[in-house]
Amino acid sequence: MPAPNIRLFSPDLDGTLLGNPEASARFTHRWESLDRHRRPLLVYNTGRTVADTQNVVQTRLLPEPDFIIGSVGTELHDSLYNRAQDFRAQFSVGWNLEQVERIVAATPGVRRQPAEFLHAFKSSWIWPRARREQIDGLRQRLLETGLQINVVYSCLHFLDVLPARADKGNALKWLCERLGLGLEHVLVAGDSANDSSMFLLPGVRGILLENSLPELFAEVAGRKMFVARTSLADGVLEGLRHFGVLPEFQPFVFPAATAPDREA
Ligand code: GLC
Ligand code: MG
Repeated sequence: MPAPNIRLFSPDLDGTLLGNPEASARFTHRWESLDRHRRPLLVYNTGRTVADTQNVVQTRLLPEPDFIIGSVGTELHDSLYNRAQDFRAQFSVGWNLEQVERIVAATPGVRRQPAEFLHAFKSSWIWPRARREQIDGLRQRLLETGLQINVVYSCLHFLDVLPARADKGNALKWLCERLGLGLEHVLVAGDSANDSSMFLLPGVRGILLENSLPELFAEVAGRKMFVARTSLADGVLEGLRHFGVLPEFQPFVFPAATAPDREA
């Protein structure tokens, strides 16, 4: 029986639910076996665009979610309440894409991501092995011009400059407020630093995986989180059992077609 206190589950995709197709299939199978009226809401929270996430869902590798937060907290797919416009409207405050691009492009060692990963409220770049002081310096240069921005650096590779009110955590908080759901009812899962804003929301519970990167452990240090002993979607399943969303023990039932022949 799903734990009555976890009412929304928000996992990251790459490096969390995706990365091992067999494990993703195990997650999908277990999730779809839950009673859809009693299970938590499922909210994918990913760096991928909403459109790309929908393509993955179409392959049936992952279950149909209730909401998708895409492009590192700058896009929302909300087929229930149609609030995606309100969500986007909050991002123009203190944001000027041209100014952001000019400042980031002048930073040595930084190159722009392909157009498919960029949009009006997401300026994304590749910056291999940037040091913390370099990231802090760039953030400072952006803030000094009066921009209200959020700088997210992950996997020692990806740089996202977003409006101050955007990132995975802020987007999730916005959605929970609209749903009238307290953050103590929320469970998150992730593997890299662009997930830390979800883990740091006050009151949320979190699942870290065996493969979660040191950068994420460092950012959530001091917060009590469940650390799975397995990787990717298997670690997510372990966490869902820990938090009572999935039952601890599953009685094993042979599928009818493959039941062993007792006479053999
Ligand atoms: C995804 C996005 C990319 C972003 C990265 C880290 O890979 O496609 O644009 O920079 O996540 O957030
Ligand atoms: Mg990830």
